[in-house]
Amino acid sequence: MSDQIHRPVRVAVVGAGNVGATFAYSLLMSGLASEIVLIDANQKKAEGEAMDLNHAVPLTQPGRVWVGDYQECAGAAVTVITAGAAQKPGETRLDLASRNADIFRQMVPKIVENNPNGIILVATNPVDVLSYATWKLSGLPKERVLGSGTILDTARFRFMPSQHFGVDPRSVHAYIIGEHGDSEVPVWSLANIAGMRFPVFCEQMGVGCDKEHLNRIFEQTRDAAYQIIERKGATYYAVATGILRIVEAILRDQGTVLSVSSLIEDYYGISDVFLSLPTVIDRAGVERILRLKLDEREVEGLRKSADLLRDLGRKLGF
Ligand SMILES: NC(=O)c1ccc[n+]([C@@H]2O[C@H](COP(=O)([O-])OP(=O)(O)OC[C@H]3O[C@@H](n4cnc5c(N)ncnc54)[C@H](O)[C@@H]3O)[C@@H](O)[C@H]2O)c1
Repeated sequence: MSDQIHRPVRVAVVGAGNVGATFAYSLLMSGLASEIVLIDANQKKAEGEAMDLNHAVPLTQPGRVWVGDYQECAGAAVTVITAGAAQKPGETRLDLASRNADIFRQMVPKIVENNPNGIILVATNPVDVLSYATWKLSGLPKERVLGSGTILDTARFRFMPSQHFGVDPRSVHAYIIGEHGDSEVPVWSLANIAGMRFPVFCEQMGVGCDKEHLNRIFEQTRDAAYQIIERKGATYYAVATGILRIVEAILRDQGTVLSVSSLIEDYYGISDVFLSLPTVIDRAGVERILRLKLDEREVEGLRKSADLLRDLGRKLGF
């Protein structure tokens, strides 16, 4: 029992590229974990990241960062997977699937062999299909495998209206559900500020809220990754912050509602697929998926997203 109490909190990060290294940095700054293990096929790059991160420790929170192999996933509360090929300009997330699926076939069994009791959080794209693949390959209970899913898209779907409405994005309550990708679904029917639906809020604020305004907000949300990749080649700050938020909810047993990707069972008739819905996250991982009252268009969009993801999963052999 005392071993349990005194065990340092370890987080393993597989893939120390843009997303993995940025997440490791934000995790170190947060002080949430005392041990951060970086695992990467490019050992030299991971070593450089670990050295750089360790040199920040005297100036910030205590913590230890080192480069390990899969054996050092042992005892990690959460293993975050960001390894894989990055999206190229003009390439859709789904195009990446077969390149990354092969990497996962190698990687996931090694993680689970060394850490059968931890939670696995996937961020590699296409995140929904690879989270499903991770669940299948790992044999872990469904609660302990999740994907970052639309946590990033949902953050963007709070930021974009905040700019239009002139309020703090944290005061915008709106969700993107379904695929993290082109078929994602905006839940307009429940989007609100202080409990006021967007059209009511706009009327009070005297700002436009017609179909055109709303379409533009969604397009900016859906296409944000393409816009950023065109300018700087990759996206990593916002997604790393999203991963940190999920890890925080797990490590601190917060019961936070976040839009993450997990196994869907009998949700408007949708089953056997990973996609994002508002989900309660605590130390067990996925505590529960919230059953939203969606309108018909939203349900139809969610079904399309599910069909597309299930088809791709099957094509890849999952
Ligand atoms: N889910 C999201 O919201 C979101 C957002 C941005 C990026 N991403 C995805 O995250 C992934 C990583 O993006 P990035 O910009 O960090 O890419 P990156 O190329 O900078 O980093 C990927 C890292 O994975 C490592 N790697 C490759 N194969 C490996 C293997 N077999 N074992 C261990 N390590 C391996 C590489 O050496 C590299 O360091 C991509 O799939 C990208 O599309 C997801």
